[in-house]
Amino acid sequence: MKILFVSLGCDKNLVDSEVMLGLLRDRGHEITNDENQAEVIVVNTCSFIHDAREESIQTILEMAAMKTEGVCRLLIVAGCLAEKYRAEILDELPEVDGVIGTTAYDAVCDVIDRSLAGERVQAFESVDRLPLVKTKRVITTGGYSSYLKIGEGCDKHCTYCIIPKLRGNYRSVPMEYVLEDARMLAASGVTELNIVAQETTTWGKDIYGEKRLHELLRALCRIEGIRWIRLLYCYPEEITDELIEVIRTEPKICHYLDMPIQHSSDRILKRMGRRTSRKELEEVIGKLRREIPDIALRTTLISGFPGETEADQEDLKSFIQTIQFDRLGVFTYSPEEGTPAAAMENQIPEDVKAERRDELMALQQRISEEKTGNMVGKVLKVLVEGRIPEEGIYVGRTYRDAPDVDGYVFLDAEEEIISGDFVTAKITGADEYDLTGEVLYEFTE
Ligand code: F3S
Repeated sequence: MKILFVSLGCDKNLVDSEVMLGLLRDRGHEITNDENQAEVIVVNTCSFIHDAREESIQTILEMAAMKTEGVCRLLIVAGCLAEKYRAEILDELPEVDGVIGTTAYDAVCDVIDRSLAGERVQAFESVDRLPLVKTKRVITTGGYSSYLKIGEGCDKHCTYCIIPKLRGNYRSVPMEYVLEDARMLAASGVTELNIVAQETTTWGKDIYGEKRLHELLRALCRIEGIRWIRLLYCYPEEITDELIEVIRTEPKICHYLDMPIQHSSDRILKRMGRRTSRKELEEVIGKLRREIPDIALRTTLISGFPGETEADQEDLKSFIQTIQFDRLGVFTYSPEEGTPAAAMENQIPEDVKAERRDELMALQQRISEEKTGNMVGKVLKVLVEGRIPEEGIYVGRTYRDAPDVDGYVFLDAEEEIISGDFVTAKITGADEYDLTGEVLYEFTE
């Protein structure tokens, strides 16, 4: 069959999509991007916040319309929206032929076979199941940079978050599976691994009795072909001295840490169910910067959490000003049905949430501008990702930039560079988020 696959939501979901694509390819199906030729359409959905749900529903509706017009015979809905709203999807969308939950994606081939035979399939397992699939997944991120998922689910139970209901409690992917996945990626030409999970820092605790991310990272560093390893979704209170040491000493690990902290006001952190305080956040960040002076720190924040006052907003502004994050994103709070925060009093009006978000982003923009300005004159390694033909320049990322969420470096180069190559570049200019530079050929491998 010719299969069109649409993946929505986060990078963890994207890894599930790539595994499903691998299984479909192994079964002899053909993956297509051509909507007119697709005989089966699979949509892997997201249900994190209101906007993500809207996008998922809109996509399913568009695909359903396509099904009624074209050659398509099956429409399958997988992922987080299917996990939460399977009954509604089946009741209200007769075009949908099958639904697959977040922990049953390894059944995708079977679901297609049974749906083709006329059954309207519901493939669901306990949200605490961990599918362990040994397949060479289809890399959808460009061939040289990939996400490596080391865990599933979360048991932090922050009061605003629906993820534990959609994805279960935290389960570490055992070391041998992570390493095999990484080796397969390296053998396919991947040079950058971006380590993901709902949270990466407690990896190992559930299966080995203690946190062992540092050991996993050391083993990943030994894989030939891997040049950069980047850590995303680290919980501040779970960062250990061993982890800091491995980032500091292993040359393949980028001096970069994504650490979503959500807020700084102790009152709001408590209401959010976070297990840290402003003082502890300042301490861990201080330690990271002392031990690894060139570390780039990224965080995400939530604006307008229920009960947030002007004083809390001022706290957050002073925190941002003090810490000077290298990268920072802000989301407005979205009440999610079934979470404790959605039932809290003092919900904040949308316009106030947006105003507070904009205020934080404007503050960060000034910090970011200063930070990128400080990079001018520096010599950095750049992973080249492509070329803008009209302008004749190349686009890449430094160790300070994670794919999709951070900035870029725009490079002048006299000789052709192949996407995926690492070059050494001198930074010659900067704006708020991005850099410009020129390739230094004498240092380029
Ligand atoms: Fe969305 Fe599910 Fe990821 S809700 S953000 S796709 S874990």
